[in-house]
Order: sequence, then C-alpha cells, then structure tokens
Amino acid sequence: MLGPPGAGKGTQAERFAREHGIPKISTGDILREAVNSGSELGRQVETVMERGELVGDDLIIGIVQERLSRPDAIGGFVLDGFPRTARQADKLDELTRERGPVICVEIQVPDEELIRRVRGRRVCEDCGANADAFVHQKNVLPELCQNTDRCRSVGPKWVARSDDSEAVVRERLKIYWRDTRPMIEYYSARPTFRRIDGLQTPEQVREALVSAVASALGMPASQLQSMVAKKKLGGDAAPPRGAQQG
Ligand code: AP5
Repeated sequence: MLGPPGAGKGTQAERFAREHGIPKISTGDILREAVNSGSELGRQVETVMERGELVGDDLIIGIVQERLSRPDAIGGFVLDGFPRTARQADKLDELTRERGPVICVEIQVPDEELIRRVRGRRVCEDCGANADAFVHQKNVLPELCQNTDRCRSVGPKWVARSDDSEAVVRERLKIYWRDTRPMIEYYSARPTFRRIDGLQTPEQVREALVSAVASALGMPASQLQSMVAKKKLGGDAAPPRGAQQG
C-alpha cells in the first residue's frame, strides 16, 4: 500500500489483511510499538519519528526482512508504509523474487484533505489502534478496541498521535514528495501497479482496492472473493481484528 500520510493505507491494509487472512505488516506500527515498549529500537527511532523524518534504511530493511521470514507471511502479506525509498524498494524486490508478484496500490488524496484527516485522527493510547474510518462516523469515536486486556477491560483512551501535529504532518508530506513519490513513479511502469482514488468513502476505497488487486492478478474481483471464501471455509479463517500476528 503506497500513498502519503493520511491517505488511508493503514485503514485499508488492516481491513484487507483481515478479510483475506494474511498479515498486515506496518513499519509505522512496528516502530510505534517499539517506542511504547521503551526498547532499544524504540529509543533509537523516537526522536526521528517525532520530527516526521524517515528512519534509516538499514534499520527498516532489517525489521521487514525478519518479519517477512515468519511463517504467517509465507502465503502473502499486506505491506503498509514500506517501501518508502528507492533502496527499500530494491530490497523488497530482492526479498520477494521467489514469492510471486508484488502488487503496488497507490491511494491518492490531495494534501489539504490529508492534513485534515491526520489532524482529526485518534488512536488508542494503550495499543495504538486507529479509531477506524469504517466505524468513525459523525465524529463519534468507537467505544471499544480489542487489542490488549486493558483496551478490553478499561476501554480505549483516544489520543492524537505524537507526529500528527500540523507542523510535523507538513514535514512528513515534504519528505513523502521528496523521497517516496519518485519511488512510486518507478513502480508505476509495472503491470501490477494500480492507482485508486482515496477521496471516496472508506467502503468505496475498500471496493476499489479489492478490484485493483484482483485485476493485477488477472481475475475479476468476484473470483478473488470466492477464493478467499473457500480458504475460510477450509478453516483458514482470518484472525479477528486486533489479534496478534506472527
Ligand atoms: P506511518 O505510520 O507509516 O505513517 P504514514 O505513512 O505517514 O501514514 P499514516 O499512518 O499517517 O496514514 P495512513 O495512510 O496509514 O492513513 P490512516 O489509514 O491512518 O509512519 C510513521 C513514521 O514511522 C514515519 O514518519 C517514519 O518516521 C517511520 N517509518 C515508518 N515506515 C518507515 C519506512 N519504511 N522507512 C523509514 N521510516 C519509516 O488514515 C488517516 C486518518 O484518515 C484516520 O483517522 C482514518 O480514520 C481516516 N480515513 C482513512 N480513510 C478515510 C477515507 N476514505 N475517508 C475519510 N477518512 C479516512
């Protein structure tokens, strides 16, 4: 999933992964978990993330390489927030050479709408779950998220992400246009590249994403969905929202 901050990559990646029974691998989530846990990795990346800058390629590539090698990622995965630089894209090609096509879907949204969304975003202070766009209607925040015992028992405390202030979002957008956008142009020449309009409702974006993935695989969306339904009937159902992957 490619696109600028606030395009809806995380929202759609989570839903797509859940519905298709494959893990969502979000480098932003992995880094935020490290920061929240106070680990050595978290200490290394905290200030960089708060400034809205990119974490170093070597560090990110190491994290993704390890995550893609786990058994649950063998049958496919959704990548959210990676790759973001030409070097990360080259590494992804190398890591997936034996694994079938990498499908790249770019979600396009104009900058001012991105800023509006990111400034309005709330995440659970305990587990980092997004107050999901699919249930976040009329400014009413969902009552529950499910990721930790604390979320389930006490309920989430919805807070703004530390890198979601307007100044930091503008910096993230600047970096996106400088480092990530040229990389997307590099992907756009591939037959498995698709672009979708992220200004639509979350449900419409979800449908466009399923169609985009199916067409990149050379099949109608209905065929992809029936393959997923068969997989679920075979007992390989997707884990519930918020379940630990890996
Ligand atoms: P990361 O967490 O990846 O942030 P990002 O790419 O900036 O993307 P966001 O999470 O802000 O937005 P999103 O597109 O996922 O949108 P969302 O679905 O949440 O990275 C954070 C930091 O980690 C980076 O700045 C960097 O420091 C570091 N990092 C991560 N990966 C790295 C890498 N590969 N290399 C180097 N550094 C890395 O939606 C946003 C809001 O809009 C939500 O409130 C949502 O509910 C709402 N929304 C979603 N869809 C819609 C819709 N269709 N209509 C209306 N509202 C919607």
